[in-house]
Amino acid sequence: MVNVRIDDIPLNWLEEILNLSAERIVVTDRDGIIIYINEAYCEFLGTTVDKAMKRPVQEVIENTRMHIVSRTGQAEIAAVHHINGSEMIANRFPLIVSGELVGAVGTVMFKNPEELQLYKSKIQNLVEELKYYKTREESEFTSKYSFSDLIGTSRPFMEAKALAERISVSQSAVLLLGESGTGKELFAHSIHANSLRSAYPFVPINCASIPEHLLESELFGYEDGAFTGAKKGGKKGHFQLANRGTIFLDEIGDMPLAMQSKLLRVLQDKEIQAVGGQKSVPVDVRIITATNRDLEKMVDEGKFRQDLYYRLNVIKIEIPPLRKRKEDIEQIALKLVEKLEKRFHRKSVRLSQEVIRLLQQHSWPGNIRELENVLERCINVLDGNVVMPNHLPLYLRDQETALFDTVPQHANPAGTKIKPLKETIAEAEKQAILAALAAADGNRQEAAKLLDIGKTSLYEKCRIYSIK
Ligand SMILES: Nc1ncnc2c1ncn2[C@@H]1O[C@H](COP(=O)(O)OP(=O)(O)OP(=O)(O)O)[C@@H](O)[C@H]1O
Ligand SMILES: [Mg+2]
Repeated sequence: MVNVRIDDIPLNWLEEILNLSAERIVVTDRDGIIIYINEAYCEFLGTTVDKAMKRPVQEVIENTRMHIVSRTGQAEIAAVHHINGSEMIANRFPLIVSGELVGAVGTVMFKNPEELQLYKSKIQNLVEELKYYKTREESEFTSKYSFSDLIGTSRPFMEAKALAERISVSQSAVLLLGESGTGKELFAHSIHANSLRSAYPFVPINCASIPEHLLESELFGYEDGAFTGAKKGGKKGHFQLANRGTIFLDEIGDMPLAMQSKLLRVLQDKEIQAVGGQKSVPVDVRIITATNRDLEKMVDEGKFRQDLYYRLNVIKIEIPPLRKRKEDIEQIALKLVEKLEKRFHRKSVRLSQEVIRLLQQHSWPGNIRELENVLERCINVLDGNVVMPNHLPLYLRDQETALFDTVPQHANPAGTKIKPLKETIAEAEKQAILAALAAADGNRQEAAKLLDIGKTSLYEKCRIYSIK
């Protein structure tokens, strides 16, 4: 190998190299006298190299600190320097040769704020992208609610909440049962947040929303090359991500039988095997499951493994539906309004007494989620600050006309109330859907079959009527 020494490089080359690598550069000796300055810097200062050379640096560069750095030996990196009426970013390094401080080197990184801005905007995107992934990773696997977010003082609710608080420190499996929208997910978050595992991840996974053939690899991960399209290096499963923390298997009633067997094995052996992997890895995870389906009935029908049901049902918490705790409705509604106000940038929104009364009369098949949807709609159509009955959806307002009907022209001679046909049909349709969902234990596919309509059509109707 040829040994190239720096003095083999021609001097004019060296100068060009300096110009290219540090656009604007100045070198002073220990006394702060300029011993080198390049043309770019001089041009920036409005002078020439000849005029600047051999002069004290303070006389050539406004507000400089080069003479200080050449004495103290303390580098100043990315310092803001006011010069020529604008701000530039400067670096000042002590020049140490053979262990001795002989002067200082200064460079100007950005000659004006615009140049800095341009640079910043280039890295800004990268920084933001990084931040996004970082917070997503962090927020994805931490509990977002605690028991103080669970509103309600009715007896059945307080009992469920107290039980959940008491067992949060235990290591046993928890099964949360409750109708759609009753707050099962909130309970799961709160239990983790109040447990000894709270410093470790809380990993939720919705068993119903993941295609059956992906569920196993989502739960247990896969090894490199486990199947075509598998990510290089493999992928961690939710169980591994939740190690030392809690895994929340939502909608466990929708887990296919084949997966149920695999899950059972994990619970028994406390170790997992990745798809395509050979060895088992131990995991320490607490399990919380939730469903709005009748698991016992599913066990009887052979749709849910009995042994798995026993393993999951160590601590059962039943969350009461809203209609069984009507005294909580006002308090919850006010809390939800507070939350929605923030989301929609509104202030001082109030609920009129009539509205509170109407909310308390409704049976809320969709529970708190339905209440939240109703209030969201109200805030969207609200003109002033007070929510009045006319801001409520028709089906809630109708209760009032049914109970306090004072509009005689709508009453037929027999006294039964006549509503516009459209409303009657809508109400009948909603009731039929609710009945079918109840008969199918919340399984939409089955409910659609019972109603003899397509699944997509059922989803659309559920959305319209706020049925979850
Ligand atoms: N006790 C409560 N106090 C205040 N808000 C609540 C309470 N319980 C639930 N909520 C709110 O109601 C909504 C539904 O709650 P959550 O998602 O936990 O219900 P869920 O039982 O998991 O429903 P689903 O079975 O449909 O998944 C959420 O927006 C949640 O913030
Ligand atoms: Mg849920």
